[in-house]
Amino acid sequence: MSEGLVMNDVFLSCKGVEKTFVKNGRKTEVLRGINMELKQGEMCAILGQSGVGKSTLLHVLGTLEPATGGKLIYNGEDVRSYSAARLARFRNESLGFIFQFHYLLQEFTALENVLMPALVSGEPKERYETMAKDLLDEVDLAHRMDHRPGELSGGEQQRVAVARALIMNPKLVLADEPMGNLDSENASRVKKILIDLNESRGVTLALVTHDHEVADDFPRKIVMRDGRIVSK
Ligand SMILES: Nc1ncnc2c1ncn2[C@@H]1O[C@H](COP(=O)(O)OP(=O)(O)OP(=O)(O)O)[C@@H](O)[C@H]1O
Ligand SMILES: [Mg+2]
Repeated sequence: MSEGLVMNDVFLSCKGVEKTFVKNGRKTEVLRGINMELKQGEMCAILGQSGVGKSTLLHVLGTLEPATGGKLIYNGEDVRSYSAARLARFRNESLGFIFQFHYLLQEFTALENVLMPALVSGEPKERYETMAKDLLDEVDLAHRMDHRPGELSGGEQQRVAVARALIMNPKLVLADEPMGNLDSENASRVKKILIDLNESRGVTLALVTHDHEVADDFPRKIVMRDGRIVSK
């Protein structure tokens, strides 16, 4: 834990973060100078219309995509100073990602998908198996543990992805429309799991949604427009 974290409790800080994609010589500026901070244990909803850069921001915050400008600072350290191995370890141990499109591995069962981050970390599977089963139970999928993604509905796959994001006890959960494919009962269940995690374990949470009603349950709302934050 760095001095910075102890002093001001800021877990994550973006300073002028930019993301520009270049393809065939054509530039697409998607993030145009993002400035924001997330304190440890803070919970925020990220709102904005389709195409404003919400998913891109989450990918950059999750260190899955490098920023093309500005600084991304975790616990007082610029992640650009991390080696690839350190960055991968940090991501695996500290961040939980729920993608807009869940990216489950098709050849593995629901249980194996949930266990994947533990396998990647090199930890013995047995240490996590009970927790993986408990998480699948929490998202009401105890009866589908041995199903492969192709044998699950879209919403069930989304719930497997929620369980997978939580298996390593992340400090920060980045969730991209995690309730997008779900009926109201399952949407409430997933929202409650995430909010409970914040309350019981102080997990920091950034959740992208286009649904203002969902966002109303969050103490902080960050609104994006055209690659920028217009309200925080
Ligand atoms: N790899 C890429 N190359 C070029 N442009 C991209 C790439 N990824 C995203 N974009 C563009 O960046 C913009 C923002 O995309 P992003 O997925 O972040 O939007 P979003 O706010 O999450 O939208 P939605 O609510 O529809 O999910 C879009 O106009 C998209 O076309
Ligand atoms: Mg998106």
